[in-house]
Amino acid sequence: SMKLELNNVELKAGDQLKIKGLIHHDADRFQIDLGCDAEDLALHFNPRFHDDTDGAVVVCNSKTDGCWGDEKREIHNPLHRGADFKIVLKHAGDMFEVELPDGQEVQFQNRVGMDVISYIRITGDLKLTSFKIC
Ligand code: GAL
Repeated sequence: SMKLELNNVELKAGDQLKIKGLIHHDADRFQIDLGCDAEDLALHFNPRFHDDTDGAVVVCNSKTDGCWGDEKREIHNPLHRGADFKIVLKHAGDMFEVELPDGQEVQFQNRVGMDVISYIRITGDLKLTSFKIC
């Protein structure tokens, strides 16, 4: 599994990440994390392909001082093993908006109120093919 970890970035309200990748054929999960460090995340965006409870699901959460908040689960997961994808992730101030490959949008409240994201991590069972901050 791959890992991209960026520190000292500056992602603010209105900014977007465009992420393209190829999900492994035997993928279990991957994640896109936005925060100020690994212990403090405003958004953990975590597609899973065979979760024990929900099967294919997108789990979102926040993390504060190393402690997970309450999970939000989207039972709709248009991301598929073995497939290419493009995700557009927007910092919309009070919200994070994640546009999925089928056009559907997952929204997650910026519940920790992080105005500036300085840490980005992408890791898990994928090959990253393109990454842009715009
Ligand atoms: C946990 C999992 C973490 C993270 C978290 C999200 O069960 O071990 O990696 O995905 O759920 O709530």
